[in-house]
Formats: sequence, C-alpha cells, structure tokens
Amino acid sequence: MEGMSRSFVSSRVSWLSGAMTREFMKMMWGVPELISLTAGEPDFKTPEHIIEVAKRALDEGFTHYTPTGGIPELLEAIAEKLSRENGVDYDPEREIMCVPGTQEAVFITLFSTIDPGDEVILTDPTYLAYASVVMLCGGKPVSVPVTEEEGFRIDVEELEKKITDKTKLLILNTPNNPTGAVYTRSTLEAIADVAQRHDLLVISDEIYEKIIYDGAEHVSFASLPNMKERTITINGFSKAYAMTGWRIGYVAAPSQLIEKMMAANGYIIVCPNSIAQRAAHAALTGPQDCVEEMVKEFDRRRKVIVQGINEIEGIHCFLPKGAFYAWVNIKETGLSSFELTFKLFQEAKVGVLPGSAFGAQGEGYLRISYAASMDSIERALERIKPVIERVVEEKGQ
Ligand SMILES: Cc1ncc(COP(=O)(O)O)c(C=O)c1O
Repeated sequence: MEGMSRSFVSSRVSWLSGAMTREFMKMMWGVPELISLTAGEPDFKTPEHIIEVAKRALDEGFTHYTPTGGIPELLEAIAEKLSRENGVDYDPEREIMCVPGTQEAVFITLFSTIDPGDEVILTDPTYLAYASVVMLCGGKPVSVPVTEEEGFRIDVEELEKKITDKTKLLILNTPNNPTGAVYTRSTLEAIADVAQRHDLLVISDEIYEKIIYDGAEHVSFASLPNMKERTITINGFSKAYAMTGWRIGYVAAPSQLIEKMMAANGYIIVCPNSIAQRAAHAALTGPQDCVEEMVKEFDRRRKVIVQGINEIEGIHCFLPKGAFYAWVNIKETGLSSFELTFKLFQEAKVGVLPGSAFGAQGEGYLRISYAASMDSIERALERIKPVIERVVEEKGQ
C-alpha cells in the first residue's frame, strides 16, 4: 500500500484473496447483452406482505437495538417452525439466536467452536465460504470427495477415512450448493452414526430446505436420534422468502454453545437488523403460498434447463433434487471449467461459474443457476449450444 512503511494487515486475513466467483462477477458486471446465470439468489421480489410489515416497523420507529440474539417473538416463531416442520424442539430463549444471515451463522459457529489445528470435514465440491472461514478460525479444512457416480451423496466410508484425532466438526449442506443433491434419511443416519462414534459436532446448513423437488424429503440432522446435542442447525430467510438483501438468519444449538456465540456476536454485530427481524417474523407466521409459488417456478425452470443441457452434445447434467443450480458435467469438451466459463462469457455472452471454484472435484463442471427468468434460461441455452458443439467438433478433429 502506497505510503505505508509496513503492511498493517493481520496474518489472520493476509492470505485471503477475492474469491474466484467475485472476480467473475466483476468481469461480467455491466456487460451489455450478457445473460447471467451466476446468481446464488432468487430473482423474485420479497413477498409483499413481508415488505408491508417492514414498512410498518419503520413507521412505528422500530429502529433501535434489539437483544443480541433477536426479539422474543421471532425466536418463538423460529422454535415453533423448527418443531412443526423439522421435528426438533428448541427452547427459544436458550437454544436459538438470530444472526444477520446464514453466512454470519457459519462464521460465528466456527469462530466459537474451532481451536487452532482442529480439523473440519467438508465435502468437495462445497459451498465456497466454509473452507475459508474454517481457515480464518485457525482450523484445517479436510475434504471428502462426492462424485456424480454416487449421485453426489456423501460416501460414509470415505468420510470415516478422513477422521483423525484432530477432527472436531463436520459441515453438512442439504439441499446442496452447488450440486443440487438432497441427502437421504439413510445417508444422514449413517453420518449420525459416525458423528456419534467419533464424538463430532455437526453444522447442518439447511438454507435450501424449502427449495426441494419431486417429493424429496428434507431431513434435519438434529431431528435424528441423539443428534440434537451435537448439531448446530443454521438457516435463514434469503432463499425461501427471496430476502437475500435483508440479512437475516438463525442458529439453533445446545444452550452452552448459543450462550457463547451470543456473547461473541454481541461484540461483532451487536444485534441483527431490527426491521429485518420483524420481516422474518412475518415470513414465518404469514401465508406460505408465496414459497410454494416460487418453488413451483424454480421447478419449471429446472426441468427446462436440465433438458436443454442434456440435448447439447458434449455436456450433461444430473437432475437436481433441491436448490436452484444445475451442476453440469463438461468433461467431454476437453476444456477446463475455467476455460469453458470464459469461452461462454466471450462467445455466447452467458455468465456461469466454473466448478473448480467449488473445490478440486468441481473441475470438469459448471454451476449454472436457474434463479433467472424462463426467457433468460431459454435464450442462454440457445446461445450455449452452438459454442459447446463447436468445441466438441474441434476436439474431435
Ligand atoms: C449453502 C449456503 N449457505 C449459506 C449461504 C448464505 O446465506 P445468507 O444469505 O442467509 O447469508 C448461502 C448463499 O448462497 C449458501 O448457498
């Protein structure tokens, strides 16, 4: 930095670089004609009844600090939801806290549980933030590869091989970003058995729980026998209620963990946004047909995008059961995921993300978000097709 005699950046953060996806987003920003299928957020507007409650909160002057863990009525609504929908009973006062988004839940959870040198097991590919936050907290991420041949489920034998005497924690994300896989009850039961035998803590990131298709069952890890005491459930309102910008989510965990996480969060965030808390309360207690409608629309798009991709020679895609991402196998093209992403950007004016940004196993894949209008999806498919077919043809020559 100019004018500085030494770096004032701490060693804790000095290794961080702009995440690859952010670089791509920047490159794609403002490019005319670009159809971007990179978004990790619903393209819908937050439902009107939620916005109305937030406006009312502003008008009433609900603009002050709240308790660090959130307002009691929201905590109660979350406890009721977890009991009704997820089959786990939590004490709203002692076992639940609100946070400014699931991302902060990832941070505060790892910050409050990981000691230097502790190992944390993740899948590969994985949601980008987990490994970086583990490292920020001094921990060591350890990856279990999940493969297309296995339907991107966790192979419990492979998982067990990665456990050492330093392993403290395992992070699960179902429905999964980026693969769209939904872990079955039997897979989760087998993981529960491993967690029990090796005395592991489990973070269960359930942010996509409502975005689920074909009657797939979402199983909350904490609802499995004896798992509540070793599970930290994290969730938020961003995806189900199209509320990414409101920054609101929650953590449900054993009280001794919540107590410390809340104490730490008091110094980090003071409290979640007051208006967003009222809005989240409205989301949980109000009509749920808005969620159903959004999921129905995601489902229509999912079918169109998967069919469209599978009709293009050289690439194919497994039918995701949850979330809003197509995880597209591009291995036959012979290009790296980065090269093909760049090519699609330049030649098709379509923005996607390279699978390699999600871990080593993501090489050979693209993540294509279908949280975009049907028109954008259809036009993107039309543009992608000739570019990929040309690549495959050139490779064959
Ligand atoms: C798996 C997963 N966890 C957490 C988040 C962050 O969600 P929030 O907006 O609640 O912070 C995302 C966002 O893309 C995600 O995909």
